Amino acid sequence: MNIKAPKGTKDILPADSYKWQFIEDNFSKMAREFGYGEIRTPMFENTALFKRSVGETSDIVQKEMYTFNDMGKRSLTLKPEGTSPAVRAFSCSTDVRAIKPHKYYYDIPCFRYENTQEGRYREFHQFGVEIFGSDSMLSDAEVIALADSFLRKMGIDDLELRINSVGCKECRPVYRKALQDYLMPNFYKLSDDSKKRFETNPMRILDSKEECDKELVENAPTILDYLCDDCRKAFTDIKLLLDEMNIAYIVDSGIVRGLDYYTKTAFEFISKRLGSQGTVCGGGRYDHLVKEIGGQDLTGVGFGMGKERLLMLMSENGHNFGGIYKPDYFVAFVSDEARLYAINLVNALRNSGKSAIIDVCERKLKSQMKLADKVDAKYSIIIGEDEINSNKLTIKDMTTGNQIKVDRNELLRV
Ligand code: HAM
Repeated sequence: MNIKAPKGTKDILPADSYKWQFIEDNFSKMAREFGYGEIRTPMFENTALFKRSVGETSDIVQKEMYTFNDMGKRSLTLKPEGTSPAVRAFSCSTDVRAIKPHKYYYDIPCFRYENTQEGRYREFHQFGVEIFGSDSMLSDAEVIALADSFLRKMGIDDLELRINSVGCKECRPVYRKALQDYLMPNFYKLSDDSKKRFETNPMRILDSKEECDKELVENAPTILDYLCDDCRKAFTDIKLLLDEMNIAYIVDSGIVRGLDYYTKTAFEFISKRLGSQGTVCGGGRYDHLVKEIGGQDLTGVGFGMGKERLLMLMSENGHNFGGIYKPDYFVAFVSDEARLYAINLVNALRNSGKSAIIDVCERKLKSQMKLADKVDAKYSIIIGEDEINSNKLTIKDMTTGNQIKVDRNELLRV
């Protein structure tokens, strides 16, 4: 039987993995430069965590989680996102020396049982950052600036940053009621999904992709007219801070996010090039999640960025991802005796900090040299009788074809 990878998953082989390594190295470097430390959490969590944080009414909890019982009959779930595990780990930690605000970054696989299509998978990968313990909009501005700087560094400068405020416990219920009142006369025209959301989470109707819903919400009241003083001030401030950093944005009251924990700032970086899966990065503020999960009364803000979608855009741009790794030396051999000298030399080169390749298939010299070309070695060395007797090696520059003779000990020293 031919066993394939499960639906919605992808294998990443060396012809592509160097691209992943490129973005991963760059993201972790930039996150550290911005003052974030890496947090690593388990691949699965107790199911209750996501029900409480992402929310019972969200699509993720209602129909997308990979939930199973372990042998001890505990209900566990493969993580569908990174924020709640980070909050949970932070709340469980007892590191009294930790600096406030607490700034974390992560690079994780996520699992959601979704209808798969280009850009939407069942196992996908996210970079993310979270800040715990700052009420200031400087922290919201900082996470947006980090996403913006990183995307630019990756050569992506055609995304739209859309920002909104989803209000707070004070003002959101007033807006929800106004939205329901507005939609009520046309309730029967809503899509089936939106009819279900009407009671549980009417704001999600605003970002429905169904044409019938889009028409109905076109002139709906906007949350920005219902913000309380605190939320309005915060929204004015985040715009001011983004202006100050010359980060362009569009205010879009349709950005409501699919996870229930958000308060105040919500934002998305959207590409027009990826069709319906255009959101490359999404995030926002969550003022109550840390406490709700059992931690201190600290606010949070962060983002998640889809690595598959980022890579799609970079590949379309023809990015070279730093190129495939080129070994320093390829060592070829012409006889059994030379084979021993060659493996000894390769091992010595590697131990002296250089990279070296030998044909472990032991093919004829001509094929060994073809391999040297394929692996794109910078230099090649052929070992024959002369080299064994004299310990003088001919180093060939594979780009120019120039050759120089070097003493073996000299080569290992430089
Ligand atoms: P999210 O919007 O659900 O937010 O996901 C963040 C990003 O992950 C999306 O913008 C998208 O690029 C990518 N993504 C989501 N689902 C898929 C999928 N099925 N296939 C491929 N890529 C996908 C969160 O997860 C929040 N935890 C973000 C956050 C962090 N908010 C505050 N802090």
